Amino acid sequence: MTHKIILDTDPGIDDAMAIFFAFQCPDIEVLGLTTVYGNVPVSMSAQNALTLCELADQDIPVTKGVGMPWVGPESGYAHFVHGDDGFGNIDFPPSNRQLDPRSAAQFIVDTARENPGDVTLVAIGPLGNLALALRLEPDLPKLVKGVAIMGGAAFVPGNVTPVAEANIWNDAHAAEIVFAADWDLTMFGLDVTNAVPFTPDFLDDLAERNEKLGGFVKESSQFYVDFYSQGREDRVCFFHDAMPLAYLVDPSLFELTTGHVKVATDPLNRGQTSVAPIGSTMSPIWLEASKINVATKVDHAKLSKLYLDTYAL
Ligand code: RIB
Ligand code: CA
Repeated sequence: MTHKIILDTDPGIDDAMAIFFAFQCPDIEVLGLTTVYGNVPVSMSAQNALTLCELADQDIPVTKGVGMPWVGPESGYAHFVHGDDGFGNIDFPPSNRQLDPRSAAQFIVDTARENPGDVTLVAIGPLGNLALALRLEPDLPKLVKGVAIMGGAAFVPGNVTPVAEANIWNDAHAAEIVFAADWDLTMFGLDVTNAVPFTPDFLDDLAERNEKLGGFVKESSQFYVDFYSQGREDRVCFFHDAMPLAYLVDPSLFELTTGHVKVATDPLNRGQTSVAPIGSTMSPIWLEASKINVATKVDHAKLSKLYLDTYAL
């Protein structure tokens, strides 16, 4: 079965790796890239998405989305993780292609209306575009097939604060709106993405399988590996963002649990995604909270093989 998706992204090195994985997958049709601030400002995020499409010979719409959180001032960005250019400072020439003139949220709504019941929204950055699309079209949950996100930390610590993962922390109010909507949402958080370190050998294999796209990921990841290897004996990095896509291709790679979810927006706990597995509580405040699926385990070896085999296609 082919999954029609819109990929909402803030490229970003692991975003680039995920975008190429989606392009390479015969089972995934990417209808467009919608971009958001996060790792980098939104104008850079949009430009980077155009550049990745050109490199991969993909002629699909790329739209620019929100550049600010739902509430509060402009964010700081993760240049210390992804480099000044979002690609690990490799000086890659930017594309001259043009953006689709619509906002990311409008593109999501238009595409969902044109393909009722068929589109999965895959979000791998902060959730402002999805939240805005829900405001533009309150029936969006009925129009899309489902939502798969990289973000959150259900039963493990965060990576920005002790309790919050970066994508949710970056726009906690938007995440609260998206998690509360009545759609089938599956969360791939740090519970699974931090469980799967990738070594320089994996990057070599990726570049060997696909010189152009894997080569780009290998080169841009050197900065990213430096960041993740601080304070460790080994050299590793984490490709968080490809996991919701891997799930679409092969759900058997993951174990999921269903639970009621709440996103904290208060300053101390901002961005915390607390999950009460079904049956674990009778507390009314939790039973009222919306239900989501949360990935709790992943098969590392099979996931790596899927990435390598797909890049080789
Ligand atoms: O916490 C990991 C997430 O934050 C990934 O989406 C990465 O690209 C950054 O945005
Ligand atoms: Ca991302």
